[in-house]
Amino acid sequence: MSQLSLSVDIAGLRLRNPTMNAAGVLGISASLLKRVYEGGAGAVVTKSLGPAPRSGHFNPTMVIVEGGVLNAMGLPNPGAEYFVSAIKALRAEGVPVVASFFGASIEDFRDVAELLSEAGADALEVNVSCPNVQEELGMLGADCLNTEKVTAAVKEVSKPPVFVKLSPNVTDIAEIAKAAEMGGADAITAVNTLKGMAIDADFKRPILTNVTGGLSGPALKSVALRCVWDIVQAVDLPVVGCGGVANWRDAVEFMLAGASAVEVGTAIRERGFGVYKEITTGIEGYLEANGFGSIKDIVGLAQEAA
Ligand SMILES: Cc1cc2nc3c(=O)[nH]c(=O)nc-3n(C[C@H](O)[C@H](O)[C@H](O)COP(=O)(O)O)c2cc1C
Repeated sequence: MSQLSLSVDIAGLRLRNPTMNAAGVLGISASLLKRVYEGGAGAVVTKSLGPAPRSGHFNPTMVIVEGGVLNAMGLPNPGAEYFVSAIKALRAEGVPVVASFFGASIEDFRDVAELLSEAGADALEVNVSCPNVQEELGMLGADCLNTEKVTAAVKEVSKPPVFVKLSPNVTDIAEIAKAAEMGGADAITAVNTLKGMAIDADFKRPILTNVTGGLSGPALKSVALRCVWDIVQAVDLPVVGCGGVANWRDAVEFMLAGASAVEVGTAIRERGFGVYKEITTGIEGYLEANGFGSIKDIVGLAQEAA
């Protein structure tokens, strides 16, 4: 196989290849993030970190459903401060770190962004899209004005590029992406989980303690792909695709829709940490078989055909 370059540049974040883990799927462990990088990812994404420690919801917080997983973790995390040393340690080992975070107010978002930026994160991913917590915590990004304000506040204090991670649980994701762009976002990550629920017929009650949860995995893929498609048409920003990517073919489809990179979460459960290497090797084979020289050549190609 020839030595095609798989490196990508997402708003100044230069990665050896276009794959990352999706935030939170592996919990908070820095050692698991290191394994993601060793498994071949271009960068690692932290669990969403908040301004203070948070325990999340009571179990059950996860259930396997048709085509994926429903989770309602409730953003458990030890607080951003606690994870600063882990970010520094990962970076010291040469692992590019995208720090994902959330807040309950615009001030919180700004403060946590400043902390993570000072910690040396290579990029920040603003989670304005968690469906599993009270509105003010998770879903500021359901509203254009809030999305713009949060993004602008974060940008004010951030040195590295700022990715804004959007929710599919909105009427028009393109409008929200435009608001993030107005606020100064450097890139968009699309998408977080899709709100759903599961009921146990025998016990005659919802399975998750939180009643509703976020759907991830293959069942989310076509929704996520459509979201990336719409966003690419609406804004002039790089897009990171996320939702149901399990193999190289999925990743290529997201790139053809216009994503510059992909995040892979739920697929780690079945395919293990080697999923990143599998995906990059597959993309390389695809580029070569189709006579393309680099990833850039395929980003958004399907848009031109539509
Ligand atoms: C158990 C679990 C925890 C998650 N925690 C977070 C989180 O902390 N922050 C966030 O932005 N997204 C979180 N997500 C959403 C994922 O990052 C991703 O957007 C979603 O799972 C879709 O990708 P996938 O189908 O590849 O898993 C979580 C998803 C799962 C399944």
